[in-house]
Amino acid sequence: MLKTIEWSNGKVRMLDQSRLPLEVVYIECMDYQTVAECIKTMKIRGAPAIGIAAAMGVALGAQDIKARDFDGFMERLEPIFNTMLSTRPTAVNIRWAVERIKGLLHAKREEIISAGIQHAASLLIEEANKILTEDIEVNKAIGRWGAEFISDGSNILTHCNAGSLATGGYGTATAAIYTAKKQGKKVRVIVDETRPVLQGARLTTWELMQEDIPVILITDNSAGALMKAGEIDLCIVGTDRTVRNGDVANKIGTYSVAVLCKEHGIPFYVAAPLSSIDLSIPSGDMIPIEERGHEEVTNILGRCQIAPEGVMVRNMVFDVTPHRYVTAIITEKGAFRPEDIKKLKDPLIDIESIRIK
Ligand code: MRU
Repeated sequence: MLKTIEWSNGKVRMLDQSRLPLEVVYIECMDYQTVAECIKTMKIRGAPAIGIAAAMGVALGAQDIKARDFDGFMERLEPIFNTMLSTRPTAVNIRWAVERIKGLLHAKREEIISAGIQHAASLLIEEANKILTEDIEVNKAIGRWGAEFISDGSNILTHCNAGSLATGGYGTATAAIYTAKKQGKKVRVIVDETRPVLQGARLTTWELMQEDIPVILITDNSAGALMKAGEIDLCIVGTDRTVRNGDVANKIGTYSVAVLCKEHGIPFYVAAPLSSIDLSIPSGDMIPIEERGHEEVTNILGRCQIAPEGVMVRNMVFDVTPHRYVTAIITEKGAFRPEDIKKLKDPLIDIESIRIK
């Protein structure tokens, strides 16, 4: 399976997703500002992948910090954290990665003080690599739980790209599909093109085809008609942030798909690593929704203008699906009903108590 991002010889190497599928090009980032720019311009995208990129960006920035003591080091890290946090607001994974790194440094304060500040910089490389390798394991576990919802012969709808490219590898929504295939189930994936950046058309189709999974690409407005015709059995998507009441933020258009699923009695599943669950927010209405430039809508991938000059545009790139439309949330620790999240104090500790599968 392809590598989305890696730490390589003191640099951060990532696949440039803005050029896929026509060109397979890797970018080498030598400084944290370039990593941040790649996240902002969606050369790397997908909630878990940008969390990993942020951690690697911080590790890169830390290598150049000259500080006399621990507190000086932490002070100089702060603008690097803030740069990463300012890139994209909706996915909680960047904040999750920053908090994890801060927690690690504080926990190892004494060790760093006795070994010297250089030690902190190497701990950050180690941690960023750990976040990457753990993410792959998390996705495989999501795949094992998620595959239980997929029966042989299923036609599965997905929106955007919650695949290998959006993660350290294997994907979240796609993990369930890859696992089902490994189990010998015959599946077919119907992929929404996902306007305006076309993550479905460009990325999900490409990566599923590389894994020999039958794919059908549809325009975003076709899903309802296909559901009505009985051509979709279930839907699985990823998430950028799932909050305490079980509401789920994901790529714009996810909400419409979920409503259509409910109307047609089709199960709607969300694959959500625990790193994307944010218990600090009570309801989906409070999730910050990123708005991006008008040119993403008036132009196709910046290559061809399709709308008149000066037209007014809204380009909200995520939406929130209320929990009542979500059949189950599939995590690395099992699947559960979205409305049960509010019973949790810490998703890592007591999630088993609400598991349905
Ligand atoms: O704008 P993007 O391409 O970063 O949006 C990605 C999505 O909406 C994904 O579905 C989500 O991040 C989950 S990825 C496992």
